[in-house]
Amino acid sequence: MSKRDYGKELGFLTRAVHAGNDVDGETGAIKRPIVMGNSYELPYDPSDLNWSGAGKNLYTRNGGSNQQYLQEKLASLSGGEDCIVLGSGVAALSGLFFSLLKSSDHVVFSNVTYIAAYRLLNELFNRKFQVETTIVDASNSGEIRGAMRPNTRLVHIETPGNPTIGITDIRAAARIAHERGALLSVDNTFASPYNQRPLELGADFVVESLTKYINGHGDSMGGAVIGKRELLDPIRAQAQINLGGVISPFNAWLIMRGSVTLPLRMRQHNESAMTLAGYLEGLPCVSFVRYPGLKSHPGHKTAASQMSPGYGGVMAFGLKADHDTHNRFVSRLKVITSAVSLGHDESLIVFLGEKDERQYLYPPEFHNGFFRFSVGIEDTSDLAADIEQALKSVRLL
Ligand SMILES: Cc1ncc(COP(=O)(O)O)c(C=O)c1O
Repeated sequence: MSKRDYGKELGFLTRAVHAGNDVDGETGAIKRPIVMGNSYELPYDPSDLNWSGAGKNLYTRNGGSNQQYLQEKLASLSGGEDCIVLGSGVAALSGLFFSLLKSSDHVVFSNVTYIAAYRLLNELFNRKFQVETTIVDASNSGEIRGAMRPNTRLVHIETPGNPTIGITDIRAAARIAHERGALLSVDNTFASPYNQRPLELGADFVVESLTKYINGHGDSMGGAVIGKRELLDPIRAQAQINLGGVISPFNAWLIMRGSVTLPLRMRQHNESAMTLAGYLEGLPCVSFVRYPGLKSHPGHKTAASQMSPGYGGVMAFGLKADHDTHNRFVSRLKVITSAVSLGHDESLIVFLGEKDERQYLYPPEFHNGFFRFSVGIEDTSDLAADIEQALKSVRLL
């Protein structure tokens, strides 16, 4: 534990710097070191130890120092009692689902989720483990309500959602879930805790892919579930210790370091994405732009009521062009990189073509193919100029 409790009385920026850090007891270094050793010296008589118990100073899969420091920080930033950090965002999602659900439970989940959440719930948990699942348009809380059953254990939403940037009313989803005795989990990766804290809006679990904004530099992977300790203990025991989804100490350290500048980076992402969304919306060759900060987004009012101070750096947009022109446009970009992932320091774009198997779940404007664009922290003028020269070179401008 840090020497002081970085609870809510300190500001977000202060906690991003200090929570989880402390003076290293051995060297006096003012940054806690990386502890790569995976095994710890046992006490004189180890026979009373629980080999499957959580905590540090036994074996890193049970709990390592760097992982614990990061957990302290993320619990503080997210307004949660406890946090469990795992090896990737998907390890966090699967760990949550695996620990919470059993056969014949029912899950209501959003039509807009990261593909792995869809695969886990819609293909693995329901087909292999007989968990019942219902996909809903979660932007309509009436659909969530209508899908609830007596055996509904979990409502899982993602807002803003990947890849169509759908917005779900977190407070309404929490109310509906709780009225029916279910729990609510929110994948908050696109917002980050700087812009949105679902636990404060009634959610029971927040999932973050740390690979994205929280690390922010595109050089490591991690995932977290944050919430009440009693709900997280089974995830720690099952997903981390018995399924083995542990994060490496080095990645936990990198994410800890990256997260110090989360608020500063998010300010820039928020501002730059807002500027570029407006710029793109004004171009005649752009068929649509979906960004929660734009008034044209159908979920703008809901987003404004639960996201602050900004809307993150990810948007979707389409071009009035054929399939090949979309690819040629991307190939002409010089500053913006064509790659999956998002929330990095650099701007990333990915063309999601018409062949997406989940297209039936997307609004019609997405059906001709679209871009997911993660706006980085470069100069906005350079990003706009890059888009402009690429559009000119494929004769769309
Ligand atoms: C919203 C969301 N959740 C979870 C994940 C999975 O995270 P990871 O790639 O760290 O496993 C992603 C990855 O893109 C994502 O966009």
